[in-house]
Amino acid sequence: MSNKATIRCPSNIAFIKYWGARDLARAIPVNPSISMTLRSCFSRSTVEWLDEDGEHEIRWRAAEGGLETAPPAFADRVRRHLDFLREWSGQGGRFRVATENSFPSAAGLASSASGFSALTLAVLGALDRQVSPAEQSALARLSGSGSASRSVMGGYVEWPAEGEGEGGSECHAHQLATAEHWDLRNVIAVVERGAKKTSSLDGHRRAETSPYFCTRQACLPERLEAVRRAIEERDFLRLGEVVEAEAIDLHCVAMTSTPAIFYWRPATLLVLEAVREMREDGVAAYSTMDAGANVHVICTPESEIEVAARLSRLDLDLSLIHDGVGNGPVVEPEHLF
Ligand code: PMV
Repeated sequence: MSNKATIRCPSNIAFIKYWGARDLARAIPVNPSISMTLRSCFSRSTVEWLDEDGEHEIRWRAAEGGLETAPPAFADRVRRHLDFLREWSGQGGRFRVATENSFPSAAGLASSASGFSALTLAVLGALDRQVSPAEQSALARLSGSGSASRSVMGGYVEWPAEGEGEGGSECHAHQLATAEHWDLRNVIAVVERGAKKTSSLDGHRRAETSPYFCTRQACLPERLEAVRRAIEERDFLRLGEVVEAEAIDLHCVAMTSTPAIFYWRPATLLVLEAVREMREDGVAAYSTMDAGANVHVICTPESEIEVAARLSRLDLDLSLIHDGVGNGPVVEPEHLF
């Protein structure tokens, strides 16, 4: 056994969002969520297990450069999860970790989802532990990034709010449909590359202070059912209507929290408007956003080129990432160190 593993794990975009927790430390959500696993936006994590005492070593690749010591805020979250997984495994020792993203971190592109799912799976690989996808999902969730629980699976994924175990200990995601079931695309308009000012953890913490929180919760059972049906029947219009309304609602809750959180930038609104105009012209495209300023334009393969062309023509400083539904994590033969 080599004690070293490298995993490439994709990010995901939520159609129905996780926003508000019953138990934030353990990432037990108030409501179920549904997402599409991506393929171009991913994190890659190498983990080596060392049978010796001492501190974990945590490095990351910032932008294009070499591996460097990770900044304290990021390293602390990683360290906590490594400590947790070490205790769970009962194996002692320490870990050496390196991680990188294919996309800008902490800008509403779910870097914590791909980062913590890659880290979790790489630790399992380094320890040579075979566990079920359900357990992988629950362990990734316990990183504190709940959306990581959805990134360990490909295709279309639902993460229910209830766990089977005591206190939701087994609360984990499951696959609704494979990537092959429905080829959807996601043209991501990156209007802000920097880190967002308010983390999603703070967003979850504040969510219930919004007077709009309960209104959104009341809409969710119907929305969840509509999204499940739309995926099953490959009904793009039904999916898109719900997904866009849901994203706007998440941001309404954020903006009406105390203190208020404004993730949107002026460019966000211009992209939202452009997508509405596309629809008026018959282009099949709908917007969604996570906790950030960037807009994910969900579209069919037939409309992808037109969506990208129209977004590029906007008088905005934006870059586009072409993404789409993907198959989930892969074990990589090459290590980062
Ligand atoms: O997993 P977290 O704690 O980073 O929260 C994710 C929050 C959203 O991305 C806004 C929604 C979601 O379900 O992915």
